[in-house]
Amino acid sequence: MDTEVVIIGGGPSGLLLSQLLNRNGIATVILERSSRAHVLSRIRAGIIEWGAVETFREAGAGARMDREGIPHNGCVLSHDALAVRIDFEELTGRKVMVYGQTEITADLYAAQDAIGTPIFHDVDDVVIEDVLTSRPAVSFTVDGERRRLECAFVAGCDGFHGVSRQVIPAEKRREFERIYPFGWLGLLAHTPPVHEELIYAGSERGFALASMRSQTLSRYYIQVPLADRPDDWSDAAFWEELKRRLPAAAAQQLVTGPSIEKSIAPLRSFVSEPLRYGRLFLVGDAAHIVPPTGAKGLNLAVSDVFYLAEALVPALKHQASAGIDGYSARALARIWNAMRFSWQMTLMLHRFDGEDSFAAAMRKATFMHLQRSETARRDLAENYIGLPY
Ligand code: APR
Ligand code: PHB
Repeated sequence: MDTEVVIIGGGPSGLLLSQLLNRNGIATVILERSSRAHVLSRIRAGIIEWGAVETFREAGAGARMDREGIPHNGCVLSHDALAVRIDFEELTGRKVMVYGQTEITADLYAAQDAIGTPIFHDVDDVVIEDVLTSRPAVSFTVDGERRRLECAFVAGCDGFHGVSRQVIPAEKRREFERIYPFGWLGLLAHTPPVHEELIYAGSERGFALASMRSQTLSRYYIQVPLADRPDDWSDAAFWEELKRRLPAAAAQQLVTGPSIEKSIAPLRSFVSEPLRYGRLFLVGDAAHIVPPTGAKGLNLAVSDVFYLAEALVPALKHQASAGIDGYSARALARIWNAMRFSWQMTLMLHRFDGEDSFAAAMRKATFMHLQRSETARRDLAENYIGLPY
């Protein structure tokens, strides 16, 4: 055997899994299609559930997050003139951490470098073989040379467009999907955040989100038609539209500035079941996608990794297979909860083209329900801060 676990994909899922396995004495090799610079240039969401915060700490990759991250005790949801604060701390006793997922990925690379885990970048033509036998292998091309690694298990951490999911025969897979008819245009700027907490703003003009990376770096989003391109939106047009969607008091505080980055992301809900096929396991975006409205993407990847590490360690150390047999069902239970939450948040906050007056009235009624009912706020808070592992 060349290594114990071959991990396909050097995004947050693959890196964190490798880090947790290595710290339990298990050897891994990571295969990543892109360069490290490319992986670290992708701007992703910035909210980390407390369970994930604890997992990063346990993995030995939480020191910078603890220094630079900003704990948030709540967030604001608004709907035109209505606003309601969701007090996570009071409702659940827990909070979330504002810390960019790109920074988490950089911290995980640094932690893996310190351990000395082999990470192959710019690999091509990854082929996963023999996962229904006790000795699977992964072949790939790097620097023009074809290589093959035999291992005990393969972890498919290669995101939505990866090859791992396709290894499971179509007749053994079940896919569930919802594509939303809009995207999020995101803008990053060296400006102070408009508010000390995140604002999720529903409005009759569409959704907007005011988020942040630090006291001097803001991240904003507005809902845009799927056909729009970032170049269609000048900075001035973006700021103008954002102001019209945020609550009036916040809009008055908004400090604008030149954008550092502007990009559009489509919104999708997707699950592929099961997460295991023989000795291949799917983790993170390789198996599921959520719309960003509840900031669950990375957080779900972390719980998958946590469950899989908890399953693989006894399987490799003591030939105990109960964990790997239960991985798919255990991870999917948490995944479906987050699917439901992010879908509901998306429906509650976005305007759908061509919708009728009833749909808009129900969104408003949902806000009024949140304002009135502590039970409703607690339900939202429990899901937002993350269900237990
Ligand atoms: N071979 C090797 N690597 C591959 C292949 C392949 N065939 N296909 C894709 N990859 C790599 C991609 O280049 C990417 O770096 O797999 C990685 C997958 O990373 P992500 O897409 O970030 O997925 P994941 O690690 O599961 O992250 C989960 O974190 O930042 C959030 O929004 C992100 O919600 C996502 C979550
Ligand atoms: C972000 O800061 O990029 C962010 C925060 C919360 C979300 C989505 C994105 O729900």
